[in-house]
Amino acid sequence: GALPAGGDHLGGTFGQSPTLDSWYPQRLRVELLHRNGVDADPLGADFDYAAAFATIDLMTLKSDIKRLLTTSVDWWPADYGNYGPQMIRMAWHAAGTYRIADGRGGAGTAMQRFAPIGSWWDNGNTDKSRRLLQPIKHQYGNALSWADLMVLTGNCSLELMGLPTYGFGGGRLDAWEPDDGTWWGPEVWNPHAVASPDEMVSRDERWHGQNGDAGYDLQSPLAASHQALIYVNPEGPYSNGDPLGSARDIRITFTRMAMNDEETVALIAGGHAFGKSHGQVPASDIGPSPEKAPIESMGLGWHNPVGTGSAEHTSTNGIEGSWTPNPTQWDNTYLENLFAYDYEQTKSPAGALQWTPTDSEAPKTPDAHVPGQMNPLMMMTSDIALKVDPEYRAICERFLADFDLFTLAFSKAWYKLTHRDMGPKHRYLGPEVTIADDLLWQDPLPDAAGYSLDEADVAALKEAVLATGLSVSDLVYTAFSAASTYRDSDKRGGANGARLALSPQKDWAVNRRTVPVIDALRNVQAAFTATSGGREVSLADLIVLAGSAAVEQAARAAGSDASVPFTPGRVDTTQELTDIEMFEWLRPIADGFRNFVSERFEEFAPGVAPEAAFLDKANLFTLTAPEWTVLHAGLRVLGSNWDGSDVGVLTDHVGALTTDFLVNLTDTDLIWTKDDETAMTFTGRVPATGEARWRASRNDLVFGSNAQLRSIADAYAGSDGQERFVRAFIRVWSKVMMLDRYDVNGHKRYG
Ligand code: HEM
Repeated sequence: GALPAGGDHLGGTFGQSPTLDSWYPQRLRVELLHRNGVDADPLGADFDYAAAFATIDLMTLKSDIKRLLTTSVDWWPADYGNYGPQMIRMAWHAAGTYRIADGRGGAGTAMQRFAPIGSWWDNGNTDKSRRLLQPIKHQYGNALSWADLMVLTGNCSLELMGLPTYGFGGGRLDAWEPDDGTWWGPEVWNPHAVASPDEMVSRDERWHGQNGDAGYDLQSPLAASHQALIYVNPEGPYSNGDPLGSARDIRITFTRMAMNDEETVALIAGGHAFGKSHGQVPASDIGPSPEKAPIESMGLGWHNPVGTGSAEHTSTNGIEGSWTPNPTQWDNTYLENLFAYDYEQTKSPAGALQWTPTDSEAPKTPDAHVPGQMNPLMMMTSDIALKVDPEYRAICERFLADFDLFTLAFSKAWYKLTHRDMGPKHRYLGPEVTIADDLLWQDPLPDAAGYSLDEADVAALKEAVLATGLSVSDLVYTAFSAASTYRDSDKRGGANGARLALSPQKDWAVNRRTVPVIDALRNVQAAFTATSGGREVSLADLIVLAGSAAVEQAARAAGSDASVPFTPGRVDTTQELTDIEMFEWLRPIADGFRNFVSERFEEFAPGVAPEAAFLDKANLFTLTAPEWTVLHAGLRVLGSNWDGSDVGVLTDHVGALTTDFLVNLTDTDLIWTKDDETAMTFTGRVPATGEARWRASRNDLVFGSNAQLRSIADAYAGSDGQERFVRAFIRVWSKVMMLDRYDVNGHKRYG
């Protein structure tokens, strides 16, 4: 009979391509804002990871991991009887996707479990490393996230082989679905699968200029020289075996990982003190990646058809061999051998380009599996790079001469690599955290003073702020600007610390409006200190409180008597504790909320629409689509344009928290036309008279043109919308002001 659903021939299913994106690839994917939410999380909204993690005895866990590292199993025998090296590579690749420009990537959410990252060519056989760890994961259950387990195993491996690590902070919350939004740039799945370097055109699409030319640079926010690689091609640019070209790529890509030259050399030379590269079988014979593998592979990929497909037959990257004679021992033989011998190009059994000592007397390295067999040392083009680049070479020579210096540099760089995306130290969990002092890359905040504002202080300060005569617009703009650097990707930025008043933020054009406001707030702060008998308010708290007082005032002006919650406890940090260069990366090229599109936008983001950059910002702010809409609509009627212009200020009552922006944006009596061919600003006219009623930017119009956002606009622009709008605005305002409050939010994940 017929199928119950009707129809005998099932031709397609839910989600099967083609779907929306296949037909309209240019559409703004607003629904991405709702990914990886509580619905995808088997542990639910109430799960408290910090409390669960606290039940673990870290020393016991570490000895369990170390025992596993030296217990070889048949389905994937350990090289040299020690899984340490492959685990270090797994952890490095987990952390190494981090990129400073948008803070995305990194080890923080264990994205290596999911495509595309887990199926990148460069992550070959990291699926085995994670699968090997499954017994530990099951033993400790949800008290230990995959993300923490992967980094901790990297640390255990280093310690097991003799490197004193700089410690471990737990607190990474796993993602529960693949990330479908991060832009990883043009695609080359497998650098070995193209017939010639000429075919690797998509590498060029990632770059400005040619390697070696002035102005040679990588598109922002990318940090890898190729898609599907963690950093650079080990065989050099285009696999061309050019060590100097490789050094140039290494410098650019490691800088994007927030590493300086010394950290870069420490990491590469330190990492390659361990383990080996695997290149017994050509890439063309290796099976598909985990995401493309057949169902019975159970999530593992890269099936190797030769021999047992593992142990002495293993093929991962394609290069074959070890860098040192003692691949499971922390020592200085990587650098010693790199400098003691000349190297010449050769080919691995899989056909990959690599380097070997010209001197036949050079030390040999034991085979990882075949007893008694000795193999020649190996260097990659990216290793030779450290020797030929003058700056890298000078650092290598210092490390060669002083092993303790090298050891400390590597352990500190490893700590930074693996903790870089965790944000403030408030987020670090576990007994090893205290051994690490404040490090500049952690964007340190001084400890909170003992005194905390009480209700009477808050009321008095609000009154004092409003009595300054500063406008609602200026106060809201300043508080929002303080909070606006926050990005959930690497938990940097935000209002805490009052870095808005420090370099570089105080010097950014987009923050110009805040300078006189901060001066006035400093006066309020001084007056409070003078009269409060030893009580103090931090500038950071005062900036936020002033904004909240202004929002309450704006609600009153719209007829709502609403109050904005305020949680004191922010602290002021110092210029010395602010890494100016690293904070420059937080400078917005565009910020739709403040109707800011920098003059650099056209040059730096050709082909990128401002509204797409705005969606990116909303994602980094963890906003839902309704929150995004409400926050924008509120900021516009409060007059929060960076340059004070009327663009997008679709109201005659600036400073009143009304739904006017949404009402006027959806006004069917207006016709919008672009002001010029750049289509960056627009004018809304009454057709009958031609009267120009409003001006707006793309960041404004998107809430009326995008179907999903327009539906949300309708939900507030209707006759019953005003009160709901005020309540929603206060909720999202408070959320944004609190985004960086890890001192009170802890590891709360949702909301
Ligand atoms: C192995 C490339 C930086 C740690 C490898 C392999 C390649 C490679 C091609 C061999 C993979 C295989 O076939 O099994 C590079 C390049 C780097 C770089 C191009 C940057 C220029 C690092 C860093 C670390 C690291 C920063 C850690 C701090 C390791 C370890 C192995 C390894 C431990 C051995 C894995 C094993 O024995 O299975 N690397 N690497 N590498 N890498 Fe790197």
